[in-house]
Amino acid sequence: MLKSGEVRVNGDVAKNAAMQVHENNIITIDGQQLTARGSRYFILHKVVDSICSNVDEVYPSVLNFLDVDKAFDLHIAGRLDADTTGLVLITDDGRWSHNVISPKKECPKTYRVWLRNEITDEKLPELIEQFTQGLQLQGEDGLTRPASLVRVEEDDLIDDESYRSEVLLTITEGKYHQVKRMFAAVGNRVVGLHREQIGNIVLGDLAPGEWRELTMDEIALFAS
Ligand code: URA
Repeated sequence: MLKSGEVRVNGDVAKNAAMQVHENNIITIDGQQLTARGSRYFILHKVVDSICSNVDEVYPSVLNFLDVDKAFDLHIAGRLDADTTGLVLITDDGRWSHNVISPKKECPKTYRVWLRNEITDEKLPELIEQFTQGLQLQGEDGLTRPASLVRVEEDDLIDDESYRSEVLLTITEGKYHQVKRMFAAVGNRVVGLHREQIGNIVLGDLAPGEWRELTMDEIALFAS
């Protein structure tokens, strides 16, 4: 279209694909004026057996749950494993998602974690200290950043034989399988993982598989 002279910027024919244009430029194709769609921002409650990738592989992409126009033009800001549930942020604003996921931004992410082995009263203080000091994960150079661990008290536990303890863990980085590897490093095993919060954005009562647009205030939290 550029080559054939159909594209005009502020009335002048534009042929250079590298030309920079700005929001207030008037761009037409064959006389039809284009309108720029603003960026889009969503929160979704991911279910198990869905994946945070734009390509459907063994499992469907979480983008299939978003019944919005051109959902596959969006991307996921911070992936979860196929068997992890919870809060996923989705956008087409690369700068915004960078602010969510870049380790340099140290954005806190909170996970509810169900564990195979019990965390006894005796072991708890040492475990909290280990997570605060940082753990050595296999194949990584340095220690993990300080992470905060809170045990969910016995009375709050749902009676389920498949796990022996439940914790809330907040980390400020997002290495591959980080939470599972952190608990493996202290001899425990994650049997269930659910992300509840990213920065000040909380999943709240959004039902599994449901989504909504982020509010202006939520979007502003990661704007730069
Ligand atoms: N850490 C994990 O191990 N898995 C996730 O899905 C997210 C964080």
